[in-house]
Amino acid sequence: MLINTHSRRRSGSGRDTWLAAAAAAALLAIPAPHARAEEPDALARAHAQKIAITVCGTCHGPRGNSMNPKYPRLAGQNANYLSAQLKAFRAQTRGDPDALGYMWGMASQLDDATIDALAAYYAAQKAEPSASGGSAEAARGKQIYEHGVPAQGVPACSSCHGPDAHGLQDFPRLAGQHGQYVLKQLGSFQSNMRNVAIMHGVAQNLNLTDMDAVAAFLEAQP
Ligand code: HEC
Ligand code: HEC
Repeated sequence: MLINTHSRRRSGSGRDTWLAAAAAAALLAIPAPHARAEEPDALARAHAQKIAITVCGTCHGPRGNSMNPKYPRLAGQNANYLSAQLKAFRAQTRGDPDALGYMWGMASQLDDATIDALAAYYAAQKAEPSASGGSAEAARGKQIYEHGVPAQGVPACSSCHGPDAHGLQDFPRLAGQHGQYVLKQLGSFQSNMRNVAIMHGVAQNLNLTDMDAVAAFLEAQP
């Protein structure tokens, strides 16, 4: 099964991957109950919750508030965005090495109804506070978030991700996301390893110091 293939190919991912792969092999083999695509029914919701807690939870935390900065937080994330990302992993179009190593195999086992139900599950979870803010770096990050870096042609992040960084529908929530993950994604957008034109345009002129600052600011947002 694909999950195992992908897990074995990674050497450094260790125990989490193995635990998850074992749980996934057991659980994802169960066919998803029939559900409408848009609005998961009770069976699909229960199925998704079980997968979220026992499989995805190994890395993302049972309610999507992962503690390890390598694994993005999913709690309170927008459902549209989550569905689109899971489909992009499944289609293998979100292509940085961690996406390939961790998520392609996971997503390959999910049908549309389960994806929508998982997205609804995470969107309904409460995002827990992450890091505490207040550093000089975070203050610079706030300025970039709200005003961009006009001299370098970097637009204000708030214009798409919202004044509170909670995003909307296809614009992801960034508030409370692990800084290390945000920083890595900005690098992947810049290099086009994660190939999304809109964010490539934003990140292409953002230097590493400013990426770091905006990541530090976002991590501390409620
Ligand atoms: C072995 C660890 C692991 C498991 C298990 C796992 N993930 Fe992931 N997931 C990751 C990593 C690492 C990333 C970040 C990939 C990257 O950097 O592009 C990720 C990214 C994601 C993202 C993108 C988040 C964003 O903000 O764009 C979603 C959605 C997601 N995972 C959902 C799931 C779901 C649903 C499951 C269970 C079916 C699952 N994951 C299981 C490690 C895991
Ligand atoms: C013109 C709209 C727009 C602007 C401005 C914008 N973003 Fe984005 N951003 C998006 C969209 C759309 C996505 C989702 C991309 C996808 O579908 O993979 C995204 C995704 C992201 C992600 C990935 C989130 C995740 O969970 O993986 C990060 C990080 C991010 N943006 C940071 C920023 C920062 C920092 C700025 C400001 C310097 C910014 N964005 C400005 C539209 C925008």
